Amino acid sequence: MAENKDARLKVITTDPLVLETPDHLLAANRITPSTSLFVRNHHGAKHLEDMLPRPMVGDIEISGLVDKPTKVPLSELAKLPKTEVEMVLQCSGNFRFQFSKLSPIKGTPWNKGGIGNVRFAGVRIADFLKAAGVSISADAKYVTAEGADQPEKAAQIDYEKSVPLDVVLARGLLATELNGSLLPAVHGGPVRLVIPGYYGNVQVKWLTRLRFETRETSNFFQLPDYRTPKKRIEPGTPIEYTFDNSDPNFDMKINSRIFAPADNSTVAAGTSVELKGVAWNDGAADLVSVEFSQDSGASWKTTRLAASAGPYAFREWSTSVTFEKGEHSLWLRAQDALGRTQPIDGGLFWNPGGYGWNAVEKIRVMAV
Ligand code: MTE
Repeated sequence: MAENKDARLKVITTDPLVLETPDHLLAANRITPSTSLFVRNHHGAKHLEDMLPRPMVGDIEISGLVDKPTKVPLSELAKLPKTEVEMVLQCSGNFRFQFSKLSPIKGTPWNKGGIGNVRFAGVRIADFLKAAGVSISADAKYVTAEGADQPEKAAQIDYEKSVPLDVVLARGLLATELNGSLLPAVHGGPVRLVIPGYYGNVQVKWLTRLRFETRETSNFFQLPDYRTPKKRIEPGTPIEYTFDNSDPNFDMKINSRIFAPADNSTVAAGTSVELKGVAWNDGAADLVSVEFSQDSGASWKTTRLAASAGPYAFREWSTSVTFEKGEHSLWLRAQDALGRTQPIDGGLFWNPGGYGWNAVEKIRVMAV
């Protein structure tokens, strides 16, 4: 367990460190405290696994298709304007257990806690490049980010991720703070790449270099890892991924959770019970409704949406229901202004990596 992490986090593995946030900690606050936030490392990185900030020493290297490759000392970041964004940080493998029920999947056995809603603050990458006096070639279409962590075994591949240049320039941050404090080492301190609205795999920790390139990297973690097929496949079907037949796990799919009552819990019959939880998407359009169903999707009722905390953040919803005695099923789905919603059958999106589950949330409660 990383020093100063909440001891109630589920330890999935210790080497590399992978920690999952249990529902009751996620449900406790809209902003997930840094001590409760999940952790996903690919390489054993013992010296980077504590909650302490690291000094702003070292550089970020800018290389590839730029007029003058350069190294910018991290100390320069403090001189530039700081932007803060509240956003969902979610591993694209979150909810993998759901896909695994249909056909077994290798990979971190995430339940529902490879996610948190946090405030990252840092310098916009567009501002950083401008201050560094770097201009990017018109041929550059992707930025590949490298981190300081290294594989321990020769057979392993160093983690790196490519993201589209236009997205990086529009909303990419060099994040140096998490929830108002200096970024803890285990979450990528002193500086990590942050792209609000994207899944966690691209939020490269311990950032050391940004490479400007014409194409996505062909590194293992870009292809075949962290990809889903463009066309539907039957559960259990193997697929050899290419850049053409698959999509990278970038934009987060619209999704929602019921935090209360908890799944399989007991509630009081005949009195008003508060239902609450959160919804989120990739920030491309407002969430317009969160609806629940007590008759397995035959009819849906709206819930109250709390004020938005920003396009990339958890949107809280609530409602109240009076249950008759007996067992009840509750379904939940969100919809956004683009008409995007959650499928009733998430299995239609089965993929060998188990990425991007966003089916209607289905829970059971017993009213007594
Ligand atoms: N960055 C580096 N350098 N190494 C990694 O292993 N894991 C990625 C991403 N950034 C990773 C990384 C994955 S898959 C996820 S889901 C997020 O970090 C998790 O961020 P967290 O550990 O801060 O919660």
